[in-house]
Amino acid sequence: MSDASLLREKNYSHNVVYEYDCRNLVRGFVLKGGKPTLLLIAEENLGSPEALLDLSILESLLGSSSVTYEDGVLDGLSLVSQGAVEQVILDESIFDRERIYLKTAGRSSAVELNPEDLRKVLADLGFDSESDKPRLIPYDFGYAASEQTTKQRVISGIQPSGDMTLGNYLGAIINWKKQIEKYDENFFFLADLHSLTVLPDPADLRDRIRQTVMTLIACGLDLKQAVLFRQSDLGGYHSELAWIFSCLTPEGRLEQMTQFKEKSQKQQIIGTGLKTYPILMAADIALYQSTLVPVGDDQRQHLELCREIVRRFNHRYGYTMPVPKADIPKALARVKSLTDGTKKMSKSDENRDGCVYLLDSPDEISRKVKRAKTDSDPTLRFDEDNRPEVTNLLSMFKVLSGRDSEPNDAIEAYFNGKGAKGLKEELTEVLVETLRPIREKYNELATTSEQVDVVLKQGVERAEPIAKKTLALAKQRVGL
Ligand code: TYM
Repeated sequence: MSDASLLREKNYSHNVVYEYDCRNLVRGFVLKGGKPTLLLIAEENLGSPEALLDLSILESLLGSSSVTYEDGVLDGLSLVSQGAVEQVILDESIFDRERIYLKTAGRSSAVELNPEDLRKVLADLGFDSESDKPRLIPYDFGYAASEQTTKQRVISGIQPSGDMTLGNYLGAIINWKKQIEKYDENFFFLADLHSLTVLPDPADLRDRIRQTVMTLIACGLDLKQAVLFRQSDLGGYHSELAWIFSCLTPEGRLEQMTQFKEKSQKQQIIGTGLKTYPILMAADIALYQSTLVPVGDDQRQHLELCREIVRRFNHRYGYTMPVPKADIPKALARVKSLTDGTKKMSKSDENRDGCVYLLDSPDEISRKVKRAKTDSDPTLRFDEDNRPEVTNLLSMFKVLSGRDSEPNDAIEAYFNGKGAKGLKEELTEVLVETLRPIREKYNELATTSEQVDVVLKQGVERAEPIAKKTLALAKQRVGL
């Protein structure tokens, strides 16, 4: 049975992608040597001399001393379904991909799957880590290179490119606060160099930087426990490492980035920076020897590329920095616009009615939620694909009311008979109460704005020594 018909039969959402050379897209490889093994791993150049993954790692994992990649037929699922494969080695970080590609037999095509469906496929085919055969061996190849990391260091950034939204809050800031409670070393920064990619007005950018710092403090970011700094204050370190990284990054990878594709459509001038942006982001992370990066779902691809770049660097020059992991919220990783449930809520959106801003007044919140798009079905149900707007509102309510650990049907049952109007009223209430203390604290801070300078100065002092050390080591490693 072919991959595609197997998937069709099981009703998985998938596409077959035809491309002359889809080798680079392929994540599924069959290994010869020992038991027939399917390798599902986030590795760009597997099987080529450029590969980052050392075959010796696989050999020790498989208990075999003669592992080679099967040449010719690099088949994906059909071999699994035919029972030809006895075990699957799975790098969990493959699920960070938005799409996973598995080559189909003998043709230049690949099956494109979403991560959730790959999980289902593996489970349906009977692979699990408990059973003896077929066997699933979970393995974190990212951390194979970073055994020297013993504790977590958290880093994340935000662009000062507009008023902060509920998307920033639910996708990132809430998680930043959780990490601060959990870990000792937390670094957060204003990604102002990144903001330049859309050529903001200079005076506006200056204001935004201050406003963003104040909003973050107003959100309750504990700056005794966390470091907050401005990227451009340490811009030399960030951009120099980014340059080194850019020499290691295949150009084609940058063109695959969804955010580049989307943003470049909106820009009159598509600056090179818009394309190389994820490389700077990788440098932001690696410079601080960071291991954990709390971000919203829209940054997933960038994090994946960052991991690849760091792995490539470590592989070529010797271990220098840990391969970081993304920490993406499970309940609501991508908050959507109130006016279009297929678009993310974004601070750069021209339609301000689609966004709830953290500093919106109760009246503004109420007006926007009242006008939020819904559909004609009076029964409220979570259904991302068919009812994105209702799903977005329900998810916001779920998280903001502190019920994120409850199953979706409990929330659906709660709104049974209340209709969109009832949902909107309750959502407004919980939004107003969540954002009230943030707005009040912000207004207080606005009267004493020197605090911003103090915070940023302290931030640089604490962040610079680490950036300096990593850059020096990276330069030494590459021969400079
Ligand atoms: P930025 O400024 O667009 O957003 C800041 C954080 O908010 C999250 N976010 C969302 N989460 C869920 N739903 C939404 N609608 C939504 N909108 C924004 C983002 O995922 C992000 O976590 N490239 C980054 C900044 C950056 C960075 C870094 C982050 C630069 N270097 C290094 C982490 C590590 C950005 O533009 O975020």
